[in-house]
Amino acid sequence: MIQIGPSLLSADFSNLKAEVQDIERSGADFLHLDMMDGHFVPNLTFGVPLIAALRKHTNLTFDAHLMTECPEVYIDELAHAGVQYMTVHEEACPHLDRVLHKIKESGMKCGVALNPSTPVSSLECIASLVDLILIMSVNPGFGGQKFIPYAVDKIGDVTELLATVGNDKAVIEVDGGITADTIGPVTAAGATWIVAGSAVFGQPDRAEAIRALRGGILV
Ligand code: DX5
Ligand code: ZN
Repeated sequence: MIQIGPSLLSADFSNLKAEVQDIERSGADFLHLDMMDGHFVPNLTFGVPLIAALRKHTNLTFDAHLMTECPEVYIDELAHAGVQYMTVHEEACPHLDRVLHKIKESGMKCGVALNPSTPVSSLECIASLVDLILIMSVNPGFGGQKFIPYAVDKIGDVTELLATVGNDKAVIEVDGGITADTIGPVTAAGATWIVAGSAVFGQPDRAEAIRALRGGILV
């Protein structure tokens, strides 16, 4: 079953409680939360207090995508704030195995994200222990960018890698430039969690936007 997760990055930041409740009513399956620190990526967004404040106003699964250096410093706070999935970048974690174990110990599910230029082979050693692999289909930092087509091949590589190590529980997520046109190839390659920022929050009618995305699914 394909899950659609609007990315808060494209929401109206002056009205976040209403925005989150709107996409919940409109059929979103989870909420994607982009934490950026201005170092790992050249943009700053929000931190744990904002996520904790929103937690009270929705039942959606919280999927935190950390585009920060040293993401491990946020593990306890994010778990306490009620986040269910915490995803860190492979490129930000020299001790990735340790960080993933710490996330699991906190009670959250652990995910690893790859920038477009990072090969899937970098995940071979930890593929059996992750709950989620996120393939970035844009260079992280901003919403509204153009989809990078070779991300589709990388999703296919992740599908193969997870099968090889016998991890049939892990989610394959894709993030960046997803529209009704690009959702087809990524789902055909094996992605099941689809992040969409401008294609949902950027549209006036979010229910219609989510329906349009579902209409492009090819599996
Ligand atoms: C980009 C973020 C994405 C972003 C996607 O660095 O990780 O989650 O919100 O936005 P769209 O769907 O507009 O490309
Ligand atoms: Zn993201």
